[in-house]
Amino acid sequence: MAHHEREPTSGLRATAPPLQPNAFFRPLDVLRWEHDRQLQTSEWLLQQTRYERLEPFIEAVEDLMGFLTQDLVFHHQDEEEDLFPTLQKRCRPRDSFESILAELVRDHATEGFLMRDIVTDLRRVAKSEDVEDPGRFFASLKIFAEGQKRHLIWENEVLLPLAKLRLTEIDLEALARSMTARRGMDESA
Ligand SMILES: [Fe+2]
Ligand SMILES: [Fe+2]
Repeated sequence: MAHHEREPTSGLRATAPPLQPNAFFRPLDVLRWEHDRQLQTSEWLLQQTRYERLEPFIEAVEDLMGFLTQDLVFHHQDEEEDLFPTLQKRCRPRDSFESILAELVRDHATEGFLMRDIVTDLRRVAKSEDVEDPGRFFASLKIFAEGQKRHLIWENEVLLPLAKLRLTEIDLEALARSMTARRGMDESA
């Protein structure tokens, strides 16, 4: 990838080429790859909150909606329904996973609230309507993107290394199966 990407159209790359089912043989790498994408999207959102213009959103609205209403929802489900409970079973007391988990789940809940507000506003943008309160829209985006960045650093530096250490081969296979099933993919394809 270019070291400094020029702005092509909206400049947003929330939509990446879909993953092939065999990528899920390494489910933790998939989560890490999704974190990179989430980070790029958060950076883009933060950039927009500096200018507070709605035009870039008109162009990016479809990508953003897909990201917020599908990709991120699946990602949270992968973590909350599969990865977190498996880690709860596998971690040792000295891993302090329960306190890590409490923080991650709290972040997801906050993100969920903000996502719903943001999506409501984006639906208006998609219909070429003004958002109800641009000040609130950009404030929500800023809190969402900053929270995402903090959460992602925490997950990349603490959660994924712990998962790599504690999950067994069988756990990883089960995680991969859940992730592909959730996305309607056949992992053996
Ligand atoms: Fe994550
Ligand atoms: Fe997460």
